[in-house]
Amino acid sequence: MARILIIHGPNLNMLGQREPGIYGQATLTDIDNRLQVIADEHQDSIRCTQSNSESELIDEIHSARGRGTEFVLINPAAFTHTSVALRDALAASELPFIEVHISNVHAREPFRHKSYFSDLAQGVICGLGAQGYEYALRHALDTLNNAAH
Ligand code: DQA
Repeated sequence: MARILIIHGPNLNMLGQREPGIYGQATLTDIDNRLQVIADEHQDSIRCTQSNSESELIDEIHSARGRGTEFVLINPAAFTHTSVALRDALAASELPFIEVHISNVHAREPFRHKSYFSDLAQGVICGLGAQGYEYALRHALDTLNNAAH
């Protein structure tokens, strides 16, 4: 059972090789390992998942509550700008979530300025590189642990 679900959308399995000038050198494994270290420091549990398939991501969100998830960090990647279905899945889950982007989507092409997630998100982090995930995880841990006290 993992309290925090971390979802990486399409093409993020290519991090490290994919447009490193935009997305940096860190691989997805590097990012997930770093998040695991932070979770371990807090004696908390995370589940990291990546898919290139919209339906798999939706199924993952549908089953999140049943698996004990209390908070979601999601980089919907290209689905940020296209997926009403993924948005609806998050809304249906009623789980708080943070939207994370490695790059500053607002400084890029106009089609990346629209997000189907930001108005539902508890917060949005973009443009801070892979470290954005760490800030998001620390916020989720603080939120959950403060709620528990
Ligand atoms: C991204 C930004 C998206 O526009 C893009 O499609 C991605 C990655 C980011 O992390 O910066 O795949 O979400």
